[in-house]
Amino acid sequence: MSNYHIKHLEEYFQVYRKSVQNPEAFWEEIAEEHFVWRSKWDRVLSWDFTKPEIKWFEGAELNITENCLDRHLPTKRNNTAIIFEPNDPKEEAQHITYGQLHESVCRMANVLKENGIKKGDRICVYLPMIPELAYTVLACARVGAIHSVVFAGFSSNALATRINDCDCKMVITSDGSYRGNKIIDLKGIVDVALEDCPGVEKVLVTKRTGGKVKMKKNRDFWLKPLLDEAYADNDAERMKSEDPLFILYTSGSTGKPKGMVHTCAGYMVYTAYTFKNIFQYRDGDVYWCTADIGWITGHSYIIYGPLANGATTVMFEGVPSYPDYGRFWEVVEKHKVNQFYTAPTAIRALAKENLEFVEKYDLSSLKVLGSVGEPINEEAWHWYNNNVGHGKSPIVDTWWQTETGGIMISPIPYVTPTTPTYATLPFIGIQPALMDEEGHEIMGIQVDGRLCIKFPWPSMARTIWGDHERYRDTYFTAYKNKYFTGDGAMRDEVGYYRITGRVDDVIIVSGHNLGTAPIEDAINEHPAVAESAIVGFPHDIKGNALYGFVILKEIGEARDRENLKKEINQQITEHIGPIAKLDKIQFVPGLPKTRSGKIMRRILRKIASGDTENLGDISTLLNPEVVKEVMDNAL
Ligand code: PRX
Repeated sequence: MSNYHIKHLEEYFQVYRKSVQNPEAFWEEIAEEHFVWRSKWDRVLSWDFTKPEIKWFEGAELNITENCLDRHLPTKRNNTAIIFEPNDPKEEAQHITYGQLHESVCRMANVLKENGIKKGDRICVYLPMIPELAYTVLACARVGAIHSVVFAGFSSNALATRINDCDCKMVITSDGSYRGNKIIDLKGIVDVALEDCPGVEKVLVTKRTGGKVKMKKNRDFWLKPLLDEAYADNDAERMKSEDPLFILYTSGSTGKPKGMVHTCAGYMVYTAYTFKNIFQYRDGDVYWCTADIGWITGHSYIIYGPLANGATTVMFEGVPSYPDYGRFWEVVEKHKVNQFYTAPTAIRALAKENLEFVEKYDLSSLKVLGSVGEPINEEAWHWYNNNVGHGKSPIVDTWWQTETGGIMISPIPYVTPTTPTYATLPFIGIQPALMDEEGHEIMGIQVDGRLCIKFPWPSMARTIWGDHERYRDTYFTAYKNKYFTGDGAMRDEVGYYRITGRVDDVIIVSGHNLGTAPIEDAINEHPAVAESAIVGFPHDIKGNALYGFVILKEIGEARDRENLKKEINQQITEHIGPIAKLDKIQFVPGLPKTRSGKIMRRILRKIASGDTENLGDISTLLNPEVVKEVMDNAL
């Protein structure tokens, strides 16, 4: 029996049992048989959740790009590694072979080195979904530089915060980006950000849109001539297992974004292993994940997981609605996609459109459909199953997080029977626990609680860049000796898990994690605003949308309220990005607060979702009279 590729339910149970009874032996075998190492480990795992300190494959050396590229060359040099599908369907797709990808990554790695980059340096990558993004990420990994990819929809402010937080000395970007029928001036955004980033020494710029950009002397350089001059071969750096591979920022419920640090060996082993099983990838298949590489889904399941398996992975530059709502399905037909992985928000948006957009295309190549990023509601699940999968392709509802590095709870297609809205069973090696508010584990079935993980898995984030204490406080203090996910979940009568949503102040809007605190900070900087509180409310397409309760400084002021709302959203766009804009803004005279001055978000959430029958006891509030007033004027 190969533990690497699970094909039957019985096999899943057997392998799962093995993986939790003797995790070290289990992961050692997977690591030994399916990856190439420069030198082997002394110890498979050491861990202590109180510090917290987690180390996998300590003492080993490797380079993840040798596993993603070099080792495939003897057998797959001419196989397609990446299919690049441009924003504009009239522009030809590119089929980049493993041989070509290896060469481009080597050239880019040499460019980095010639421009002063050394192992351990941080590089900020702010690029659209073009092949150079994949080359850059892999080139960083090859030379041992730590990449910090920032989603190219973030504003200059958000970009500057992320560049400074981990002291990036280089930024790699493009002149502009295409998104549907829009062109975005990425270099202009970088220029503004860099006014506040004194540590950045060099900016490498690739051409995509051909837009006019300003190049700052001795700081900004066009990438193309540097790549043309660079050698096409490069010796990969020897990396220790626990050397950082990348930093990726995720929103927290408070304060600035958290730079989650992932390390080389465990991340590689787990993303590769989950990719193989959860998508049942077989040689020759074409796999497409529609996420952006600016998010963890793109890191783990567009780049590292697929390439470590020698797979063909599609990189899509565009959006699902351009040039029309049939674009996803047109691409599936065109490239004969076998595994398709997207977010519920995209499914809901497409389900609202005319069915002809789906029916027009031949989707018979599809074997597996994936969902990620937020709970998938029953209606969207059925639409996806009926109209995209024609009832033949299992839907894998994959639950995981930026922090977990890889998929944690998910069906294995053709192995685990699926149930709409259920992420079903823990993946191999994952030991979930549901906890009550007093800190006890809730055993048995048909129960719900807060979702924790009891035992380390190879791809867990090891720290928050520059703030280990915050890492401990956020994830390891709520429940003793357990990793706390921040999500609630239930376990049904057969032991399947269903994720019920966040239990903290993180709101998932269109599959993007947004912390309320940074948005409130952005709003409060508006000169007319005294205080604000943001909560989520259910939204047909986005899953959740944002509702802002805003107190103005001068209540009687005769300002144009509509204009003020626009200014507030503009303020958010500048500080964070358009993804964090509010759908509703209500100006209020006060916010319901506890006697200790804490905003009662529970009450605001109920008001925002129109569920005001059961507000609970409000008599203990500091200002109960405010509740009625806010409720009467709710939008
Ligand atoms: O609340 C869960 C939700 O997304 C959060 C993690 O967000 P992020 O770090 O941005 O990573 C998203 C992509 C892995 C989780 O804490 N979430 C993710 N997948 C699911 C989900 N909620 C329900 N069902 C899912 N399949």
